[in-house]
Amino acid sequence: MCGIVGYLGNKEAYPILIKGLHRLEYRGYDSAGVALVNADNSLKVYKAKGKVADLENYAQDKDCSGTIGIAHTRWATHGEPNDINAHPHYSQSATLALIHNGIIENYAVIKEDLKKRGFSFQSDTDTEVLVQLIEYIKTTNKLSLEKAVQLALKQAIGAYAIAVIEKGNPNQIIAARKSSPLVIGVGDDEFFLASDATPIIEYTNKVIYLDDEEVAIIRRGEELSIKTISDVEVTHEVKELEMSLSELEKGGFEHFMLKEIYEQPKRLKEALRGRINIDETEVNLAGIREHKDKFINAKRILIVACGTSWHAGLIGEYLIEEFARIPVEVEYASEFRYRNPIINKDDIVIAISQSGETADTLAAIELAKEAGAFVYGICNVVGASIPRNTDSGSYTHVGPEIGVASTKAFTAQVTVLSLIALTIGKLKGELTDENYLKLVKELASIPNKMERTLKTNQQILNFAPIFTYARNFIYLGRGYNFPVALEGALKLKEISYIHAEGYPAAEMKHGPIALIDAEMPVVVIAPNKGMYEKTISNIQEVKARKGRVISIITEGDETMKELSDFSIEIPETEECFVPLLASIPLQLMAYHIAVVKGCNVDQPRNLAKSVTVE
Ligand code: M6R
Repeated sequence: MCGIVGYLGNKEAYPILIKGLHRLEYRGYDSAGVALVNADNSLKVYKAKGKVADLENYAQDKDCSGTIGIAHTRWATHGEPNDINAHPHYSQSATLALIHNGIIENYAVIKEDLKKRGFSFQSDTDTEVLVQLIEYIKTTNKLSLEKAVQLALKQAIGAYAIAVIEKGNPNQIIAARKSSPLVIGVGDDEFFLASDATPIIEYTNKVIYLDDEEVAIIRRGEELSIKTISDVEVTHEVKELEMSLSELEKGGFEHFMLKEIYEQPKRLKEALRGRINIDETEVNLAGIREHKDKFINAKRILIVACGTSWHAGLIGEYLIEEFARIPVEVEYASEFRYRNPIINKDDIVIAISQSGETADTLAAIELAKEAGAFVYGICNVVGASIPRNTDSGSYTHVGPEIGVASTKAFTAQVTVLSLIALTIGKLKGELTDENYLKLVKELASIPNKMERTLKTNQQILNFAPIFTYARNFIYLGRGYNFPVALEGALKLKEISYIHAEGYPAAEMKHGPIALIDAEMPVVVIAPNKGMYEKTISNIQEVKARKGRVISIITEGDETMKELSDFSIEIPETEECFVPLLASIPLQLMAYHIAVVKGCNVDQPRNLAKSVTVE
């Protein structure tokens, strides 16, 4: 949610900043801007509504010289997306320019106060208030920029990752963060600044992650200095990034989303390597084994997450309760944090997040920690805030996910949850050896079965245009496939803007059935496992009302095929692993329908990849 880039070094800053913005565009894409201290020491701000390409068009005939600059791609919170509300924002005297990711919650009070002191505002943003406050503190107290930023941030309530530069000073960027991510790349005589490591990896693999309420003083020719907003010096270990540049490219695919759907077999095979032994007889998840007593003795597991990660959590509930026999509750992180939940010291809280930066999930983690629970994170982005704020955890290890609609991260989260359930189930002696061995072997075979599932792509591509007329979809599934129905519906909504709802198939008769007519496509996840016969009855109920059935079925199931208008076959697997296969045709279906409708699949309207505001 909003992307920040900064550069200070010996190269021209503008091309680096623009390239960085393109890499971060998945975080927000309603407007973009750049501020540079030009070669003549003037401070220039260029900004434009729309994509980064619109900014490039706007700036093409402007003076973009200079070896220091900051840039921003926006996801609007305060004020509509337009040129004026785009970042960077100038201070009153245009001597400072600032970019910001987050929300300053007490901006209205500060704004009123500054207005009384003669400040005027151009934009509707909370960000402009912050830059004005910094200028006010700096000039009235005759302070350095560094000190003024520290004092201003002490007054700010809310979340921020900021970077500020100053007219006449081509040698300094001041940056700070609280509850919004900020990474500093350390090169040879140069520094980079970004919301995540993707704009940095091209230049250096050495990074420092700032912690909350820390201010980085980045000066040309000097060592990086980090202080808290209370002026206490801090040192951070320089971390090495493991990401490769090719992971950030589309690799010949039309969209990142399609690339990421296709990557699933390979990525999951890699993620399972080292976690399932070579004989496929044992799973080993270090994070669980290192804390095995906690998991064996846990009275309850609470799973907190948002969006797609919450759907993965629901599957985790089925897996952990079935194999480890520990009661599990799954909560939206946003509800959990505000509803005064009961959290016990012997509870384990599992937080699931692709980005590791989701504000609601981070807040839920804080709450769980305060209550003394052990917190385990499942995260994809290495070094993100969630893995740094949890007691232990597992990375999903499927590489950067750039498409806003989550695909490979979802199946990876379900895979890690499967490993967790099997590991605890074995440690607790809840699984018979025979069952355990059968499940481990089957899990190891999933990447190959995913490969086979991807062969349904052409069939889905062929029928997708038929459904672009639809204004609504219903998705149905039972047991492990109820969360798959929710996830399938979310994918379609997000990228094609077709309204879709997921239900447990048996719930249909309690209300949603009223919606079914010849216009209503109903997607049923109907493998030959679980409540197969009951699912057949649900399909009959849809057909009796002339609904059009698209079913996800087990290979060779002629009965389901005959009942359905369209059926997509997936390989046979254990009931608990069906979600890992069944979600792939649903991802492909959402993708192809959205493409035929002409939607921007990788950057759907109103969304952003990483939701760092509440
Ligand atoms: O990064 P997180 O997994 O914490 O993100 C949670 C949701 O914002 C995310 O899953 C969202 O629902 C996706 N756009 C779904 O495709």
